[in-house]
Amino acid sequence: METHGSVTTPRCRRIVLFPLPFQGHINPMLQLANILHTHGFKITIIHTEYNSPNPSNYPHFTFKSINEGFSEIADQIPTITDATYYLRYLNKTCVDPFRDYLAGLLADPAGEETVACVITDAGFYFAQAVADDLKLPRIVLRTSSLGCVLAFDALPFHSYINLTKEGLSNTPISDYEASVPEYPLLKFKDVVKIITAHPQGMGDFITNTLKQMKTSSGIIWNTFKELEESALETISQDFPIPSFPIGPFHKYFPASSSSLIEQDRTILSWLDKQSPKSVVYVSFGSVAHITKSEFHEVAHGLDNIGLPFLWVVRPRMVDGSEWLESLPEKFLERIGDRGRIVKWSPQQEVLAHPATGCFWTHSGWNSILESICEGVPMICSPCFGDQPINARYVSDVWKIGVLLEDGFERVGIETGIKQVMMDKEGEEMRERISCLKEKVNLSLDEGGSSCESLNNLVDYISSF
Ligand code: UDX
Repeated sequence: METHGSVTTPRCRRIVLFPLPFQGHINPMLQLANILHTHGFKITIIHTEYNSPNPSNYPHFTFKSINEGFSEIADQIPTITDATYYLRYLNKTCVDPFRDYLAGLLADPAGEETVACVITDAGFYFAQAVADDLKLPRIVLRTSSLGCVLAFDALPFHSYINLTKEGLSNTPISDYEASVPEYPLLKFKDVVKIITAHPQGMGDFITNTLKQMKTSSGIIWNTFKELEESALETISQDFPIPSFPIGPFHKYFPASSSSLIEQDRTILSWLDKQSPKSVVYVSFGSVAHITKSEFHEVAHGLDNIGLPFLWVVRPRMVDGSEWLESLPEKFLERIGDRGRIVKWSPQQEVLAHPATGCFWTHSGWNSILESICEGVPMICSPCFGDQPINARYVSDVWKIGVLLEDGFERVGIETGIKQVMMDKEGEEMRERISCLKEKVNLSLDEGGSSCESLNNLVDYISSF
């Protein structure tokens, strides 16, 4: 037996991890791999060729690349707007290479080494049948919140097949602003965003993901108990398998080493020159797209509010634009040194910087956790998937930010930023999020909830 800190693990247990190939999923999976490595486990990362992580940042891990076949649809990728198309495609093309690799590893272990389990992203629902066939425990990493899974589990996706913004009047739902009976925190307009323009694909993907999560050997959550206590109780009843809320993962290891895009660090010296809590940080994550007219509204909102801002605009984030060519005329001249636009930022460092006053976010789960950990209140502009659910929790449950109810629209944008940055309401949000920041730190301390849960997870995996 080897001893690591307070935890004892058997010699040479290997864990095989398989992230979905998207930034918001790769970051938490590689952070989890690092956490488990410090507890004595050997680590193999299986990854797709598409969006492959950089192995040289992880010399202590073994990497195995599998061909997911994206090169065969490479020509179509820019025109595919349905995110679930990729996810469903991956769940078909990864089956054989994933099974072959695992079967080989199990048949031919290195020395005394044994594979304890496989940990896959929850979105790789195909992996449960493979793991069952190989008699290998599969633990799921769910990279979204507990609240998101509860909402997904409650929503009757297939009844909402015809629910689109345009088609609302043709459905039995007459009030777009009304609460959804199955999950009253959400409004019908949130559901329209959750299901995207491809409700059938989204419904199938979520149904398969949840079904296979329920038959897995356990779920690891990138959250902490104090943030989602009541959701955790419900999850324990609805998903009667072990649950391990051990987050936030980035408090153990930063996301920068798994960044797929180079982070522009030059903006940190610009932030150094700004007054405390004066800068509006704007980023819509790694996958969200906006239209040219939405891009214009964002620019006008930032222009009109008159505050310093740091805005992340990924190349091709704006539909039909390579980068900044759709900005309003003379925008950059007008803004001068008051604002900075970058292609990708060192987000955790930006949020931790004393000059950052608020975070205007698409409400991806990693972004929300990173903001909570730095005590930065938020302005939420959710785009799709789990983001509308996360945004409701931020604004209506935790009250640590505002949701731009009317989407990307300049007057609402100015009002939202003003509320958070200048009004008393914003001060109250800042106080509440500062309390959560303290709770995060306590949960990670020896004896805290996330620390205990991690010890339980290590013991659980060691028992296989
Ligand atoms: C996606 C989904 O959109 C999100 O809702 C889901 O919860 C996870 O998968 P993404 O859109 O990329 O993720 O958002 P998010 O979860 O916030 O993850 C983005 C990650 O990229 C964060 O870790 C963030 O720190 C990092 N990032 C973002 C940067 O390093 N630099 C940037 O400029 C912007």
